[in-house]
Amino acid sequence: MSDLLSRREFVRSSAAGMASSVVMGIPHPMRPPRPLPPESRWAAKPVVIASANGLRGVQKAFDLLLQGADTLDAVIEGVKIQELDPSDDSVGYGGLPNRDGVVQLDASCMHGPTKRAGAVGCLENIKTPSEVAKLVLKYTNHIFLVGEGAKKFALSYGFKEEDLLTEHSREEWLKWRANLNPDDDYLDVPEKETMVVRPTGTINCDAVTPGGDISSVTTTSGLAWKIPGRVGDSAIIGAGQYCDNDVGAAGSTGRGESNIKVCGGFLTVEGMRRGVAPTDACLATLKRVVSATESRLLGARGRPKFNLTYYAVNKRGEFGAASLYPGQYAVHDGAEAKIRDTAHLFEQT
Ligand code: GLY
Repeated sequence: MSDLLSRREFVRSSAAGMASSVVMGIPHPMRPPRPLPPESRWAAKPVVIASANGLRGVQKAFDLLLQGADTLDAVIEGVKIQELDPSDDSVGYGGLPNRDGVVQLDASCMHGPTKRAGAVGCLENIKTPSEVAKLVLKYTNHIFLVGEGAKKFALSYGFKEEDLLTEHSREEWLKWRANLNPDDDYLDVPEKETMVVRPTGTINCDAVTPGGDISSVTTTSGLAWKIPGRVGDSAIIGAGQYCDNDVGAAGSTGRGESNIKVCGGFLTVEGMRRGVAPTDACLATLKRVVSATESRLLGARGRPKFNLTYYAVNKRGEFGAASLYPGQYAVHDGAEAKIRDTAHLFEQT
């Protein structure tokens, strides 16, 4: 692109032309993309924030926003990169399975402009639960579908049933099962091959458009080796994510049970509603998590034995993230997609 034609001018002049190709790339779009207003009339600084595994996702979502895509369409396309990536064993295809070796996925999303929400829990054999959550949001009078019903719903929209275990995730599950109990019928795995326990992984993504519209999505394979039927925070509106188009959006990754108890996504957005900056709202929610933690989950100094991270954006496009212990997040702040350190409550347990 020449210096005479800046990226933004290029986007503006060709947004209408791009519209059809953007729609074609987005299944079940919330609305057709439209040209951006001139920058002088932008209501917000566009921004996309995500958990640290979302660096490619924030870039993708931001590019879509600048092509005039709907804010929910943009964040869903962002998180789908992780859902479809077999090497991310915390989300979608390749996610670590439950106790029985079955991958059960959770996801939820909210669309600020239309005040709608959708979610799926314990969804099996479908690679992209975030898309199914969007379909619940868009095409039903309900908010939350689970298990077999959620799968049938997805199949009715043309999703393919697929084996979500990869060679890696199956092997990790076999190792875990082999080490369950010295008296069981499985041979022990040699000591060097210690099982990899990834308690929780997830991707949350929240975005603000130049028009000040906001959406959020969280998707996960949940706690590895969980009891079949366990639903974590990611599927729960107000916990794994929450969005209010007048205020902002927030989401979480980490130990879902601890987040559910404080309605962390909602609590963080409510903090921002009172005028608290995004990072400080995340820190305040973490303090609530600590005070709500039962003693068996606290270490010697009264600090949680788990980690939890919150991510937040407000309607002006200000953003921040905070975790119990040092961590990172991904953001596209308008200039570039990058990884940043989270604010944190404690240096170590
Ligand atoms: N935060 C993901 C989960 O606990 O399932």
